[in-house]
Amino acid sequence: MQNHGHFSVLQTADGSPSLRGETEPMHHLGGAYSETQYIYGEALRRLAEHKELVSWNVLVVGLGLGYIELLSVAEALKHQKKIHLLTYEIEAELVDLFIHWLKGDVENKVYDQMLNFFKEDYPAYDLKKELFEIYLQGEWEIRGALDSSSLPSPKYQLILFDAFSGKTTPNLWTEDFLNVFLMKTVGSSLPAVFSTYACTGVLKRVLHQAGFKVEKRMGFLGKRNSTLAYKEVLNSQH
Ligand SMILES: C[S@@+](CC[C@H](N)C(=O)[O-])C[C@H]1O[C@@H](n2cnc3c(N)ncnc32)[C@H](O)[C@@H]1O
Repeated sequence: MQNHGHFSVLQTADGSPSLRGETEPMHHLGGAYSETQYIYGEALRRLAEHKELVSWNVLVVGLGLGYIELLSVAEALKHQKKIHLLTYEIEAELVDLFIHWLKGDVENKVYDQMLNFFKEDYPAYDLKKELFEIYLQGEWEIRGALDSSSLPSPKYQLILFDAFSGKTTPNLWTEDFLNVFLMKTVGSSLPAVFSTYACTGVLKRVLHQAGFKVEKRMGFLGKRNSTLAYKEVLNSQH
């Protein structure tokens, strides 16, 4: 079996790669790329409906292989938006591997294989180069572990919450943590979209309390439900 740092590489059913750590795979085995498009692509496209926004502030929980970051840049370019990204990733090794690959320092077949999926859907853009440029410009910030002491001060319009499940990272799914997380990351006057592959009672309650409308979506490939929530403003000044 192929390795990626201390993770093992999995092939998912759409042909795109994923990783398995000690606990769970990082994606639905039905397709890492397809799942990313279904859960997070939909949220990015919802944000794009806010044509008045000239730039997007996007917060990602869990870099993993970097699918969500590449997709965010692809959708921002497609909709002619500037983008500011903040990613939380506890595994420094994953950040290191990804940045070296983006920079062109090392070859990595797993990332190349992932990128081929984006090339099919976004042929007009060199997403590897674009994401690295955003990183060099300081518009992509990468932090370590997400917890209540590492929350950001700027506000985000899009939160793509791709943490491991509550079994593996229970601290990220508690009512107390999610309450503080949303309070700190979501602005009161901004449109905001929140998306995750999971759907729990606690999450729905917390999102409602924070002023979101919660849409219960079918999960990827229909097994369980996922969550897409949004908060709109009528007169946006942004
Ligand atoms: C489901 S995977 C993310 C998959 C990723 N979005 C992708 O495109 O490949 C969850 C990720 O969250 C990371 N993680 C786990 N606990 C974390 C924490 N407390 N803070 C930040 N990242 C964490 C894991 O190392 C893993 O990379």
